Parts: sequence; C-alpha cells; structure tokens
Amino acid sequence: MSNVARFWRLACPLALLSVAASALPAPKPVLGYNTWNAFRTNIDEQLIRDTADRLVETGLAAAGYTYLNIDDGWSEKRRDGSGCLVAHRRRFPSGMAALAEHVHSRGLRFGIYGDAGKRTCAGYPGSRGHEEVDAETWAQWGVDLLKYDNCNYDAHDWDPVPRYTAMRDALNATGRPITFSLCNWGWLRPWLWADKVGHSWRTTGDIEPTWDSMMEVLDANADLARFSWPDRDWGDADMLEVGNGKLTLGEQRAHFALWALLKSPLLIGTDLRSIHPDSLAILKAREVIAINQDSLGVPGDLVWVEGDLRVYAAPLAGGSRAVVLLNAGSSGPANITVSWTQLGLPAGAAAAARDLFGQCDLGDFAGAFSAAVPPHDVAVLRLAPLSSSNSSTAADNGWRPWHQLHAQLPPRQPRGSAKGWLLAGAAAVAVLLAAATVAVVRRRRRAGGSGWRQLGGTDGTAIAASGSVQLGPAVLVGPAVRIGRGGKPDEQV
Ligand SMILES: *[C@@H]1O[C@H](CO)[C@@H](O)[C@H](O)[C@H]1NC(C)=O
Ligand SMILES: *[C@@H]1O[C@H](CO)[C@@H](O)[C@H](O)[C@H]1NC(C)=O
Ligand SMILES: *[C@@H]1O[C@H](CO)[C@@H](O)[C@H](O)[C@H]1NC(C)=O
Repeated sequence: MSNVARFWRLACPLALLSVAASALPAPKPVLGYNTWNAFRTNIDEQLIRDTADRLVETGLAAAGYTYLNIDDGWSEKRRDGSGCLVAHRRRFPSGMAALAEHVHSRGLRFGIYGDAGKRTCAGYPGSRGHEEVDAETWAQWGVDLLKYDNCNYDAHDWDPVPRYTAMRDALNATGRPITFSLCNWGWLRPWLWADKVGHSWRTTGDIEPTWDSMMEVLDANADLARFSWPDRDWGDADMLEVGNGKLTLGEQRAHFALWALLKSPLLIGTDLRSIHPDSLAILKAREVIAINQDSLGVPGDLVWVEGDLRVYAAPLAGGSRAVVLLNAGSSGPANITVSWTQLGLPAGAAAAARDLFGQCDLGDFAGAFSAAVPPHDVAVLRLAPLSSSNSSTAADNGWRPWHQLHAQLPPRQPRGSAKGWLLAGAAAVAVLLAAATVAVVRRRRRAGGSGWRQLGGTDGTAIAASGSVQLGPAVLVGPAVRIGRGGKPDEQV
C-alpha cells in the first residue's frame, strides 16, 4: 500500500487539516466552473491547477466566478480499508486537501462531486450509507461545495428526499459551511421540496452543446420562476455550454443571457486553456452577470411567445426590468417588441433602455421597445422606468413574470438523461418508472395548449419606424415613442 493510501487510511476520519475558512454562501446563484461539460471523467490535478490559474488570469474570478468544482471521476473506484473515499492515486497524486489548498490560495472556492446512490454515474463509489464519513472527509479536505448526483440507487430507496436529506444533515454536522447543489434531474419536482435540503436543485437531465438541447432545457424551466428566491434558493438549469460544440456566438449569447435571467447557477463548462476570446467576452459580460446576481432575486420567465419569437423578463431591485428578446427561429432577423404592459409597467411611463451585452445606453422610450434580432440570437436589455413619470415605479411594484405560458411552447420529444440511462444499473426499474412518469407529466403539460396567445396589451403596436440603433448583433428598430433625455439624467431610477 502506498504512503498516500496509508496516510488516508490512518487519517480518515480523524485528520484535522488546516483549511481556509469560507464564508456562508451568499443568497445568490453560484458563479463558477465545473469540469464535466468539457472533460467528462478525463480530469487530473494539473487540469484543476491550470483552470484555477486561468480563472484568475482571464478575469473570470474577478467577474465573480469563484467556485472551481470537480465533477465525477475524481476518486479511486474503491474506498480504503477504513471506508473512506480516496482521491484517484494516479490522476490526483497530491491528494484533495493539497489541491483544495492550492485552489483556496488563488482566492477561489473548491467544489467536489458525490452521488446519492451506491455508485456515481461514472461508476465511482457513491455516498448512500456513507453520508457521515464522506461529508467529514470532504469537510476535512476544505470542500466548499458538493454537487450530489442521483445515479445507481437501490430500487427500494428510490425516493430522493430521504437520500438528499441524509447528506444535508451530514454536511451540517461537519460544522463547515458547504454549498449543497442537488442534481436529481428534476425528478419528483425538486422545486417543491429541495429548498429545505440544499442551495440549488437541477430541474432537468443533462444539457448538451446544441441549440435544441439548450431550448429543451429552457422550455422545461418555463413556469418555474415562482419557486426560487433568495431565502428559498435556486433552480439549476445545468452547467453552461458556452464555448462548446458548434454553438454560434448568437446561440452562446442566448444561452448565457437566458441562464442569467433564470437565476440559474452559472457554471462555466468549457476548456479555459483554449477558450475563444468571443466566448470569454460573453461569460464576462458584467451587466448580464448582474441580472443573475441582482439582489431582488426573482428569476425571469416567459412573458410573451408567438411562433419562434419570445420575450423573457424579470423584475430587478429598484424597479427596473431585465428583458431578453429571443429569436428562436432560423430563417432571418425578426422584429421583436416588448410592451410595457407585458412588464407590469404603466403603458405611458418612460423608461431608459440599456443594451447589456454592448454596455451602452439606447435612449428613453415609452410604451414599448422593438429590436430586430438575428436568428438564434437575443437582444438583452435593462429598462429603467424614469421616476418623473410615476414615482411608484421606483419599486418593483410586486410584478412577477408568472404567466404560466409553458403550455404554449412547441412540443418536444422527451429526451432522457444520457448519463442516467447509461449507468442506471441496479436501479433500472425505478429509473424507468420515474422517467416514464416525468415524460407523461411533460406530455400532458405540453398538450394543454394549442396555438399561440399573445399576453398583455398591444399598445406598442403602433410602431413608428424612426431609425435604428446598433445593439450588439441585433439592430434596434423604431420604438413606439422615443423621448429625449432633456438633460434630466438624474431622474432616472
Ligand atoms: C446547521 O443547521 C443549523 C440549523 O439549520 C444552522 O443554523 C447552521 O448554520 C448549520 N450549520 C452549517 C455548518 O451549515
Ligand atoms: C403609477 O404606477 C402604478 C403601478 O403601475 C399605478 O398603479 C399607479 O396608478 C400609477 N400612478 C400614476 C399617478 O400614474
Ligand atoms: C420592424 O418593424 C419596423 C417598424 O414597424 C419596420 O420599420 C421594420 O421594417 C421591421 N423590420 C423587420 C426586419 O421586420
């Protein structure tokens, strides 16, 4: 037995390593990095060190991405003689405590991965029945976040609530604040119970780096906005594919802006050693990140849909609205108009518009705002009501984007989680039953609506074409009414 192994066998679970203290998680969605989307289980300690360096060098850490999370594949396939998890000896020869220390020394937090079953999705040891010893091991290593997956549980142990609650209690008993990220793929509607268990809950199976997969996850999140807020924690639309696959820049912008608006944790999932500067710029879009981290903490949702054109919106602290105009079509640029009534703003109120990717003011508008949005792309705006037109708009007025429009989204073929399907093993029966239930529920929900319905008033329809403004990639065309600033910028909310 190697020295490393003997050390852990003797040390676990009594070792008291000195670890950097970490503040309790802020009541905001987590920003950071996770290895799975880019590397699957091909991970080692050099990759984690390089990624820590790149997070700092690229300015991503300064932009807020402070969690560096290792996904599946980090451990040996067998526990040691004391029943402890052991870091993979060849790929992580320095051990996890040393790696956590390195990550902490770069000013970052260290996240790790486990599973609420017998084995992880990739076949490494799971934590069911070992919750206390594993939580204690992770706490000793200096872990700040646990992503907890849902593969390979026993059929009789199918209910995720006791399995995830056991790990919550074990983490709590360590005394170390550890952000608990639930990954049960949305089974048994975690948005109804997971706030009492963890800090975020996955709402769907795994995302893939394609437009269709991104849209499928997006549509599965429609109508879930009402279940997340700062004291209740966050729905997780899965890790970002920005920079991966063949996603165009427009598609990457759409993916990033919508995930930010959903208040999903934003976890970068691409190789930072070779990331394209344009993808990096999307991930660093300061004002789009600010939507995600806004202190009001209300996720955005669909407020209007017609054909391939959609408007998503969220209220922001102070009364502004974040708006994403999405052209989900593939044929050409499309005019998309958001009207103030869709946003719970008085129809006649004036609001200052700002382009959040371009970081520039677009002027003041009343009633509605239109943009020509290229196919598979977005325009991302902040609309700040001017206090002069109605002082009560300085608050968010309690407006929420909870319109229950999911039934109007186009039907999609249900697609199982590849990870879950491939590796369900002994739990196959329970897995199939649960998947079938989810599919039936989804089909029923989607069958509920036929045809399209426009929500809210159409007072913005009398559009006067009055020139155009360049909005990043999208060209803005004639607003309903354009109002000059008149030298009163300090009246802006
Ligand atoms: C453990 O739970 C208690 C009760 O909810 C809470 O006050 C405490 O902060 C938790 N401790 C940790 C380390 O999470
Ligand atoms: C101001 O806006 C609020 C909320 O939309 C509305 O209820 C109120 O009537 C408006 N007040 C005035 C004076 O327009
Ligand atoms: C968008 O709408 C404006 C105003 O109605 C119109 O002038 C313009 O031609 C439209 N553009 C597209 C691409 O449809």
